Amino acid sequence: MIKSRDQAWELVKKYNQSESLRRHALAVEGTMRALSERFPGSNPDEWGMAGLLHDLDYEMYPDQHCHKAAELLQAEGYDATLIRAVMSHGFGIVTDVRPETDLEKVLYTIDELTGLVTAAALMRPSRSVLDLELKSLKKKYKTPSFAAGVDRSIIETGAGMLGWTLDDVLESTIQAMRTVAAEIGLDGSAAIT
Ligand SMILES: [Fe+2]
Ligand SMILES: [Fe+2]
Repeated sequence: MIKSRDQAWELVKKYNQSESLRRHALAVEGTMRALSERFPGSNPDEWGMAGLLHDLDYEMYPDQHCHKAAELLQAEGYDATLIRAVMSHGFGIVTDVRPETDLEKVLYTIDELTGLVTAAALMRPSRSVLDLELKSLKKKYKTPSFAAGVDRSIIETGAGMLGWTLDDVLESTIQAMRTVAAEIGLDGSAAIT
C-alpha cells in the first residue's frame, strides 16, 4: 500500500514529541524534495518521505537508532526501498547499510548538515535561512566548536559519494532549506526585534 505524506507525518508526530525533532524531520523532508530535482526521473514524494521518516525512532529508541525505525516502518507497511534508505543514513555509525542510490547518498550527506544550517540561521539577527549566505555558512562550518555535534567528516564523505564539491553541498542545502523556511521556523518570523 502506498502511504500518503499525511500518514507519514502523523507517524512522525506519534513517535516524536520534541518540537526540534519534528522540525528536523520537516527540514530534511524539504531538503530532500528540493534536491531530488537535481536527479532527472527521481520522485520528489519518495525523496521527501525518506527525509520525513528517517529519524522516526530517535526520540524513543535512541539506542536502537535506524534498526527500530526499520521495524516500525515495516510494521506500518512501508516498502523495502524506503526502509533501506532510512537504515543507510546511519551508515558507519549505527548500521552497515552503505548509501548506494542517489536518494540514499543525498540523505546521508544532508541529514546533519541541515542542523548546522539551522544553527547558523538562528545566529543571524534575522533568525532566517533566507538571508544566510554560503560565505557565512562556510565560516561556521570551518569552526569546529560551532554546532560541534555535527560531524563534518560525514558531510564530506557524502559529498565524495555524490561527486559534489563541499561548496555545492553547502549552497544547495541552503537553497533547499529556503523552500521550507516557514515550516521549519527559519523564515525570519521569529526575528529578535
Ligand atoms: Fe538519524
Ligand atoms: Fe536526522
